[in-house]
Amino acid sequence: MNQTTIIDAMRELAGVANVLESDADMAPHLIDWRKRHSGRAACVVFPRDTAQVSKVLAWCDARGVKVFPQGGNTSVCGGSVPDASGNSILLNLAKMNRIVEINADNNSMTVEAGCILADLQQAALDADRIFPLTLGAEGSCQIGGNIATNAGGTNVLRFGNTRDLVLGLEVVLADGRIWNGIRTLRKNNSGYDLKNLFVGAEGTLGVVTQAALKLYPRPRATATAMLGVATVNDAVQEGLKLQAAFPGELVGLELISRSEFEISLRHAAKARNPFGETPAWMVLVELAASSGNDEAIAARLTDALAPSFEAGVIVDAIVAASAQQRADLWHIRHHVTEANGREGMGLTHDIAVPTYRIPDFMAAAEQTLAAHYPQATQVVVGHMGDGNLHYIAMFSHEYWASVADKVGTQLALSHRLYDIAASMGGTFSAEHGIGALHVPEMSLYKDANEIALMRQMKQLLDPNDTMNPGRVVPASSASAAA
Ligand code: FAD
Ligand code: LAC
Ligand code: ZN
Repeated sequence: MNQTTIIDAMRELAGVANVLESDADMAPHLIDWRKRHSGRAACVVFPRDTAQVSKVLAWCDARGVKVFPQGGNTSVCGGSVPDASGNSILLNLAKMNRIVEINADNNSMTVEAGCILADLQQAALDADRIFPLTLGAEGSCQIGGNIATNAGGTNVLRFGNTRDLVLGLEVVLADGRIWNGIRTLRKNNSGYDLKNLFVGAEGTLGVVTQAALKLYPRPRATATAMLGVATVNDAVQEGLKLQAAFPGELVGLELISRSEFEISLRHAAKARNPFGETPAWMVLVELAASSGNDEAIAARLTDALAPSFEAGVIVDAIVAASAQQRADLWHIRHHVTEANGREGMGLTHDIAVPTYRIPDFMAAAEQTLAAHYPQATQVVVGHMGDGNLHYIAMFSHEYWASVADKVGTQLALSHRLYDIAASMGGTFSAEHGIGALHVPEMSLYKDANEIALMRQMKQLLDPNDTMNPGRVVPASSASAAA
């Protein structure tokens, strides 16, 4: 189908003001946030409501025009930009950003998919509640993207992944049918749980247009601390102690290597080092309580840390004494991705292993990096409490420019690390999803029957392969070859 026909149809269905077609206007949508993945499209369409999404999908599906849904374009695995064909449409949900209802008594809110995560967090606070999903991209990612990727972030330990926060969904299927599954119930065993098919499907099964989400009571007291330890094993052990000491109150438990901490300090505006001497490893701890005050919970945390401090296991500790200090500590953590991009070429891995195996993973990974990639610096940040590490091999831009086979080098390194994770019952993709980048790993690391089932589900819901083709589910030949 030629591009003019597609553009004319989209103008007709979504309105002229809601279609971008010039290269300059489309450019920011055709390259991802980290500027690593790019694609082409006939036009970018911004539907205003579910009915428009339905009409656009029905039109495209009937004519073989591929549809690539996009939220805030913060995917870190090439999932948010179209492929190179140029004959597809990019469907961006940004103009569907209404909060439909907040029901504080029911601890729920119903929102359109294009709402920015930070706006939802604020709306919940305004109702004296919290929407607990928290991640570095929260100022630009959309809830539809969070749902599509089943995003994790820094509060998973206490509140779960995005999946655990979704009560109901409205989804437009590939052929334009609208499934209205908006419910705000905590219990509903009336048949298959369809919503969980769409959470984490990365836009390959339909477009999420609305979501009913869980809210939680606003905590009355918070404590944040950054602990310094000498080894990863010490970090994990301290984490386990905190989990036992603060059941229900431990919200986040993040691990940061000295190398990552220093990168963030170097590149993140306004970041400053709270330590005299930066420890080898840091654990960022967040507690939230439903009663008391900040001073009281900080004192309880300090008491709980005292034995390890006295034993010399915790070598240094900063317990935030004000909201500003808390924000400063989180500022360093949340700016790592941006800072890594400025530092060099970071090959990022999003592995997870059972939490107690983190020291084993780290020992094997460190050995692998030193033996095979001596030019790389080991940079680690991650959601330690979830067993999820972002293990980054950081190369200087100069060195990386000199590597002849970049794709081969990246794959060889990644597969060595994924093999280590797999040998410990782990995964190659804990929270970022598959996108375009990790499709090859699906065939390598997932059970063949699992992939076959996914392919059948895709076939059932999207028989013409209209939605996000080439993403998540490997083509049959790729799987057969593996
Ligand atoms: P996009 O990147 O635009 O799209 C992601 C995928 O969702 C694509 O496959 C797209 O087709 C699909 N999609 C988007 N909207 C819809 C919709 N309405 N219906 C159907 N499919 C849709 N991720 C984490 O899990 N934890 C983190 O801690 C974290 N931190 C990050 C920090 C930074 C600085 C950055 C840049 C990224 C981070 N990410 C993290 C990754 C990313 O932010 C998340 O994956 C986020 O959920 C993506 O949301 P988005 O709106 O930007 O979606
Ligand atoms: C983080 C992103 C990269 O945890 O997932 O910062
Ligand atoms: Zn993360």
